[in-house]
Formats: sequence, structure tokens, C-alpha cells
Amino acid sequence: MSNLKGRDLKGIADFSTEEIEFTLEVSKLLKQELKMGRTHRLLEGRTLAGIFETPSTRTSISFETAMTQLGGHMIYLNEHRMWVGLAAEEDWHDTIMTVDRYVDAIAHRAITRPSLEKAAELASIPVINASCPVEHPCQAFADVMTMQEKKGSLAKAKVAFCWGYRTANPPAGLTNSLMLMAGKLGFEMVVACPEGFDPDLGIKAEADRAAAASGGSVKIVRSYEEAVKDADFINVYSWVSPAVFAKGLETHFKGDPEFEETKKKLKKDWCVSKRTLSMAPKDCRVMHCLPVSRNNEVTDEVLNSPQSIIFDEAENRLHTEKAILALLMGGYR
Ligand code: CP
Repeated sequence: MSNLKGRDLKGIADFSTEEIEFTLEVSKLLKQELKMGRTHRLLEGRTLAGIFETPSTRTSISFETAMTQLGGHMIYLNEHRMWVGLAAEEDWHDTIMTVDRYVDAIAHRAITRPSLEKAAELASIPVINASCPVEHPCQAFADVMTMQEKKGSLAKAKVAFCWGYRTANPPAGLTNSLMLMAGKLGFEMVVACPEGFDPDLGIKAEADRAAAASGGSVKIVRSYEEAVKDADFINVYSWVSPAVFAKGLETHFKGDPEFEETKKKLKKDWCVSKRTLSMAPKDCRVMHCLPVSRNNEVTDEVLNSPQSIIFDEAENRLHTEKAILALLMGGYR
């Protein structure tokens, strides 16, 4: 399958089910080759611009390492590096039009969805969503790969996607991307979150439509107990509703003081603990995309237990991004 060359990955809807499955196959192949010590310099001499508008440990490092292992190079760009950033001496249009003339693809972590959309509209090269307020498709690819490694086919898998308390107010990007994955790949996803924290219901409706054909399902419930019963995976994440996130930058990372009061009331009931695990099957695995707020979202005891696969999940960011880059940049034929 070579028709991914030149395409963008703004969200899961940009790929068909077949393309998602193929990308996962390539991810597994590249992972195997790396473990066997085989090089795969599929993007020799090619350059990726990694534009990060917020801090990033996993996404920035995995994209940079991915480009190195593929024989190319990533330029890390943030608000200190470009005139469009803190200096505010250039606009986004001129920045993207210029970057487009130098590099072969852009990975963009955007504070706003419109800036990602604009980059994709302007650039002639592939634009990859490295997390925006609406979706985190690269994390969803890594999560699916990790679950497939542990369970094989996800056709009958159940994922309990559990909201956890933390003071930062991230958007529901991963929740949204995984709901779309459940719809396309046909697994069961039960989102457990307090009232007022529902992910994007428009995206849920899109996932529901895909699920009708794939045999998957997406449901929102209000307790861990209902979600984790019979679950193969408990995936923990903290997010605010699209409406709260839309209030602006003060809710992003720093925490909105008014909103934190609401969340503190939920602190006791919304931390995944050994008690939560006791309501799930004994072989249920625990996931978190990281960074995690330990003992707020999930207890140390759970994160450090043999059921935790959080670092396998983090590792798979590298392998899935290598596949995405190689396919979109035309290095994999
Ligand atoms: N999971 C994730 O996207 O991590 P970073 O914010 O560290 O990139």
C-alpha cells in the first residue's frame, strides 16, 4: 500500500481501517528489525520539522529518534526558536510557507486545532498531528499497537478508558482518537468519567457510526466499576471537556482555579487504585500515555505493579511514528 505518501495525519479519520492496520503492521516490522539490529534507513537525507507549541517528552524525543533511525533528521522548533513564537514577529502563514520550502514533513503539536488545520492547508508536505486539543492520533496508534502485542486481535477486546484526577487541564485528544480507533478497528471502549467531563460527543457519534460496521462500541459511564468489569485494559487519562478547554490557555497545564475546586471534589473517587483493579479481571493491563500525576490519577502501587504496561506503551510511540513517517514521506514501499 503506497497511497499514504504525501498525506496528512491530522486525526484518525484521515486513515481508512485498512490503512491503520497496514501502518500497525509496518510498526511491528520496524520494531522487530530494530530488535534484531537491522537498520532501515528509509528516509535517508530527509528532514522533519518538529514544531512544539507546548512541552513534550515522549512525542518530541520519539519523533527525533525515529528520524535518526530512519536515516533522516528532525529539527526541534519551539517558541524560542522561531519569530512566530514569543517574539511574535512573524505570522503563522509565512512561517509555514517558509518551512515548507526547506523540509519534507512537519510534526506539529498545536495549542489550537485551527493552527494545525492551517498548517495542513498551507503546506505541500505531510503534516502530522503531534497532539492538539481535539486529537492525539500518534498516541492512539501506539496504544493500539501495545494492546495488540498483549492480546493479539482486538476484535473482542474491552478497553476501560478511565478519567483520573490531576491539577493540569489537558484536552480530551487521546480520548477522542481512541474512540475513533474503537469505531474503526471494532473493539469495545467504555469511557468512565464524571459528569461535565464527557469527551467530544460529535467525535463519539462519528465513532459510533464506524462501530456499527466494525462491531465495536463506545459508551460513556459514570463509574470505574461499570467500566472495568471484564476489561482487558484499563487506560487512565485526565482531561477536561471541550467547553472548559476552550476557555483558553489558563486552563492548559496551569489549571483554572475555579475549575480546580470542582475537580478536587472528585479527587477521592477518580484515582485508579488496587481497589479498582480488584473489580477487573486478574490479567487486566494498566495503561497511561504519560506524563502521569502519580497518586492523583493512578496510585504508585498500580503504576509499579506487573499489570502496568506504561513503558511498553511509551516505547511504541517510537515504532508507530517511524511507520507513520516512512509511509507519509514515501520511504516505505
Ligand atoms: N504522551 C505524550 O504525548 O507525552 P508528551 O506530552 O511527553 O509528548
